[in-house]
Amino acid sequence: MYEQILETAKWIKSRMNHTPKTAVILGTGLGQLAAEIKTEMEIPYADIPNFPVTTVDGHAGKLIFGTLGGKEILAMDGRFHYYEGYSMKEVTFPVRVMKELGINTLYLTNAAGGTNPSYRIGDIMIITDHINNMPENPLHGENIPQGPRFPDMGHAYDPELIDLADAIAAEKGLKVRHGVYVATQGPCYETPAEYRMYAQMGGDAVGMSTVPEVIVARHVGIRCFGFSIITDLGGHAQVMKVTHEDVQKAANEAQPRVAAIMREMIERS
Ligand code: HPA
Repeated sequence: MYEQILETAKWIKSRMNHTPKTAVILGTGLGQLAAEIKTEMEIPYADIPNFPVTTVDGHAGKLIFGTLGGKEILAMDGRFHYYEGYSMKEVTFPVRVMKELGINTLYLTNAAGGTNPSYRIGDIMIITDHINNMPENPLHGENIPQGPRFPDMGHAYDPELIDLADAIAAEKGLKVRHGVYVATQGPCYETPAEYRMYAQMGGDAVGMSTVPEVIVARHVGIRCFGFSIITDLGGHAQVMKVTHEDVQKAANEAQPRVAAIMREMIERS
């Protein structure tokens, strides 16, 4: 596994002519954020040795090298989900490669169902913490020597970046929520009882991604910042039907706000 990580990093490095320190993973319906990036080079996942390939509707599947907010960045347009059948090692492989490419800060976005009763569709939630409710931990098995056997998760989401996001959102007059993201394996959306359970567990939003990548990023010492776009609501008195199309539509509508904050954060951090 470690050899494959190094091999892939070496392959990508030989094609890179800049050295980004910041990476972005774009989630469901947020691929258009990629339009904000001044692209210098793109590599389809299919061309990268040892990389998995995305399948789900709405995910393009390429690495983008370019600039955002005047900073060099590496963006993953399309991510790997556990529900697609990938192992946790595959889902998080790109984050391990990022480490070898010199990335020290990772921004992640996702679409999520709001379990906090005060949330509304279209809200932007800064992830302050997470609950890993997936069936496996990506660090399961022999420790990959990019980090410690027992990594600390006390500040999985970087407090300074959270403060920065708050400050920028306030300057721009954009409302943001703070909340705990619960990760489930998917692919079905939750039953009303499950939404209620996640709320009782301490979750404010629930989704099917992000947590594996953050666990691995923290293992290798990359600091993380995450945005959830609240695309649907669950666990309320009235049962709401959720479709992938509704989720994509709500995420699309929130994109400009997320992009505005993220661009500025990258520029200032
Ligand atoms: N549950 C899980 N994943 C999701 C949801 C949800 O309600 N909305 C968007 N992704």
